[in-house]
Amino acid sequence: MENFTINDVLKEIIAKLAPVIPRAPREAQLLLMAHLNVDELYLMTNRNLHVENIDSLFTWVDRRVKNEPLEYITNRVSFYSEEFYVDEGALIPRPETELLIDEVLKRVTCRDDKMTFVEVGVGSGIISIMLAKHLPNAKFIAVDISDKALRVAKKNIEKFGFSDRIELRLGSLLEPVEEHIDYLVSNPPYIEDGVELESNLSYEPQNALFGGTVGDEIIQKLLDEVLKREINFFSCEFGYDQKDKIRTYLNNKPYKSLEFYKDYSDFDRGFTLGL
Ligand SMILES: C[S@@+](CC[C@H](N)C(=O)[O-])C[C@H]1O[C@@H](n2cnc3c(N)ncnc32)[C@H](O)[C@@H]1O
Repeated sequence: MENFTINDVLKEIIAKLAPVIPRAPREAQLLLMAHLNVDELYLMTNRNLHVENIDSLFTWVDRRVKNEPLEYITNRVSFYSEEFYVDEGALIPRPETELLIDEVLKRVTCRDDKMTFVEVGVGSGIISIMLAKHLPNAKFIAVDISDKALRVAKKNIEKFGFSDRIELRLGSLLEPVEEHIDYLVSNPPYIEDGVELESNLSYEPQNALFGGTVGDEIIQKLLDEVLKREINFFSCEFGYDQKDKIRTYLNNKPYKSLEFYKDYSDFDRGFTLGL
């Protein structure tokens, strides 16, 4: 394609995506915005401008037709009204994880406190970064078992200018953390091993999704750590069917409060434990 305008290219992308992608017009815009590195207003107000480097744009379109997630193709994901870098090394952030951040923020009443937060399973870094944005005096230790995920988190932490407040550590659960922890937060893998998932999820790191033969093993190990280390608060995302198992696991254990929250579709999605 030569001398094609934004308008022509949008039409062509929509025609290719429409048979396989439900939101083809929106995705066509997002692909073209990322290709041109422009925002939506620019796209809308420059419909007759010519688009360069069309071949690489249509390589992206072909990848999307094969159901590769848009976020991995464009290396962009929006979360909590901010834009983050993402690639195949880290899970694509999900909108419901915004609720986990709100859960934490509503409990940290004094924003001036110099608290130490630890995040287990930092992935792309979205949770620690958004908390660091809202809690200017808190420091963060963010752990992940995957060095590929840590590379993604590092890019985002640098982009947001938080390298001095969010320290990344490679390791499993709380093994790399000896310091006193005021608040533990996690969106761990919690799907039962072997569950068949939609095909687009096959592009995401499998150790970000599967949590063990039952699914909640990592959550239970984190609960053990919270009780052993007497961590004041632990906020955690979980699977929609894991509420009762968490409650049962904590039976007869010494804690002050256990509150659950739901996601945008009214499914149980997480909890905060207070000691
Ligand atoms: C569901 S993803 C969450 C990523 C990110 N926090 C988010 O909310 O988008 C879970 C993350 O936990 C990491 N992980 C899995 N097992 C772990 C373990 N034993 N210790 C630390 N991190 C682990 C995975 O590599 C992955 O990055």
